Amino acid sequence: MSDSILVGVITVSDRASAGEYEDHGGPALRKACDEYGWKVEAEAVVPDDRERISTTIRGFSAQGCGLILTTGGTGIAHRDVTPEAIRDIMRVEIPGFGETMRMRSLEITPNAILSRSLAAIVDTSLVIALPGKPSGAVECLSFVKGAIPHSVKLAIGVPTSC
Ligand code: MTE
Repeated sequence: MSDSILVGVITVSDRASAGEYEDHGGPALRKACDEYGWKVEAEAVVPDDRERISTTIRGFSAQGCGLILTTGGTGIAHRDVTPEAIRDIMRVEIPGFGETMRMRSLEITPNAILSRSLAAIVDTSLVIALPGKPSGAVECLSFVKGAIPHSVKLAIGVPTSC
């Protein structure tokens, strides 16, 4: 199953989307997905704009991405709206993902408490909001990786048992 996961990666950053700096988060997640044997089907860099984030997520879901990873905008800066954008369109939130990412990340940095990272089901996709720092995004993905194949199957509606 793991090699059939189709992934969409969305970097959420005002500055990267304006070309003010190079996006490192998206490529770091692409590399991690490659290592996990997942196929990155779609990539985007969007500003910290609630509507743009949710529209891009829905577009990637319609394109067939069973897993959509966002990086950035999970914190408490004035422009950070990624959790709100996902909650605008989700069917259900899956609190265990955010709990696990924060708990494990706190062993690395006390600042992990600032991330409002989460996972949710949007349309037929599992959406995971990861922190913006590339190493943090990859770390957080690694902490929840084990639950992803089963969650994606449920999201896309494949009959499955635990
Ligand atoms: N989690 C891990 N594993 N590693 C990190 O370096 N950085 C933290 C936190 N979570 C970090 C992490 C920091 S410094 C912030 S401000 C928050 O994620 C939110 O980041 P974001 O607003 O870029 O999403």
